Amino acid sequence: MPVRELPTKPYHDQKSGTAGLRKKVAVFQQPHYLENYLQSIFDCVPELKGSTLVIGGDGRYHNRDAIQTAASLAAANGVARIIIGQGGLLSTPAASNLIRIRKAAGGLLLTASHNPAGPDGDFGIKFNVAGGGQASESLTSRLYEHSKTIQRYRVLEGAAIDIDRRGEQMLGDSTVEIIDCVDDYAQLMQQLFDFDRLRDWLKRGARLRFDAMHAVTGPYAQRIFVDMLGAANGSVMNAVPLEDFGGGHPDPNLIHARHLAELAFEEDAPDLIAASDGDGDRNMILGRGLFISPGDSLAMLAANLHLLPGYRDGVKGIARSMPTCRAADQVAKGLKVPLFETPTGWKFFCNLLDAGEATICGEESFGTSSAHAREKDGLWAVLAWANVMAASGKSVREIADAHWSRYGRHYFARHDYEELTASQAEAVMQAAAGEMASLAGKHFADWTVSLADDFSYRDKTDGSIASGQGLRIVCGDDARVVLRLSGTGTKGATLRVYLERYAHEAGSLHWKTSDAVAPLAAAIDRLARIAELTGRRAPDVIT
Ligand code: G6P
Ligand code: ZN
Repeated sequence: MPVRELPTKPYHDQKSGTAGLRKKVAVFQQPHYLENYLQSIFDCVPELKGSTLVIGGDGRYHNRDAIQTAASLAAANGVARIIIGQGGLLSTPAASNLIRIRKAAGGLLLTASHNPAGPDGDFGIKFNVAGGGQASESLTSRLYEHSKTIQRYRVLEGAAIDIDRRGEQMLGDSTVEIIDCVDDYAQLMQQLFDFDRLRDWLKRGARLRFDAMHAVTGPYAQRIFVDMLGAANGSVMNAVPLEDFGGGHPDPNLIHARHLAELAFEEDAPDLIAASDGDGDRNMILGRGLFISPGDSLAMLAANLHLLPGYRDGVKGIARSMPTCRAADQVAKGLKVPLFETPTGWKFFCNLLDAGEATICGEESFGTSSAHAREKDGLWAVLAWANVMAASGKSVREIADAHWSRYGRHYFARHDYEELTASQAEAVMQAAAGEMASLAGKHFADWTVSLADDFSYRDKTDGSIASGQGLRIVCGDDARVVLRLSGTGTKGATLRVYLERYAHEAGSLHWKTSDAVAPLAAAIDRLARIAELTGRRAPDVIT
């Protein structure tokens, strides 16, 4: 099979967002679009030559075609070994794990996460580096710059691989290895969690319901929960990955997984109800009659992590993204370990994990994970909750109540204004930014502002600085509002408003979240003139 070098013309929109390059399928289907981006990766990451590359995706429409293209370019660019999940499937955390254990020089993760799939939906590609983490900002900007000048790419003529047949095949001079997508991941989970105890817990009648939302976690959840742990058949819903995710929106939150929230309030609700997203990195946790917010989930897992076999040595540090509520800060204080506050985007945790400074990390956008991978991990979070329940003998409600009475409770809500024009979104940010300098010491709703700024972060390991990461109005420990623009949308601009209120008196632990944060919502609307500048009377989505 000869290597051919083909001429191409650059596209000018191959700029990564918060998590890789994400566009409509039709954009990726333009001639040479994917090839250009892939060649930019091979050109900017020369260490891929002669090394191992992991390739897998969330199974969405265009995944299989894109994998053929990726394998052909990888072989033509001298990658020695290409590891691909059977059927083209690999969850994002499983891919991160494979990059680590197979000492790969990188991985191509074909996913647009929870964004809808199908011919009219989204597609995406994310490059992860050696060690399993996402490419740094500086690498993604180099890729972008390169993609704007690219003139040619290399392919292996007539390349075709059978991605459904396990085992090795040759592709030019490269070895392609098709592997079971679950095996290595399941093995890792067995090292971290007490599978005997979990089996016993389920045998004694604990009930679990996991919704794979017709996306990539189906085979993982079926194998781990049902086959290995003996959960009842039917514990895993929508377990078969479909190219259009069954027409759904696999984003596990109270809007897109409302049916699970309803299930939690049924009389005979399962003990633990959970879901993951399109590519398996997000998670949602519910107990009987109770939704656990991601910020609470991080704090509660951090407080109980020592109960789990993989974490017997305890927690070294906790990291959360800036907009994530500060529940974890209270736990860090209690455990006397450092708390790290990073910009939105999982990649900012990776240096802390590599340095052994953080053991557990989490984000308000339904992401939680630990040092076992360099991506967030949906099934990990579900197993961690199940293991805490099995080890402590407590229900989700009991774990939450005990936590809140010890550490206090952070009421948290995120209000999203979607599909704004870029100028509407900018106008709101500017209106708020204009107020920041004079806010400290002033009243904001029922509180007094202690700090108002635009968040920036300096990475201790590489010295890089990320600025402009969100406007924050902090009222001591009691309340906080954050404003930022989403970096993951593919349509228009999305304004995110994060509202947080802390309460620790005995009578204040069971308020309704929307009531608790209402004064903050009203105050930020006045300050940033949200309704006036966007023409929206209310947010489109509240999570
Ligand atoms: C992805 C990233 C997360 C990030 C989230 C929200 O899921 O992996 O790390 O928190 O997007 O990003 P956004 O920019 O849309 O708020
Ligand atoms: Zn995802």
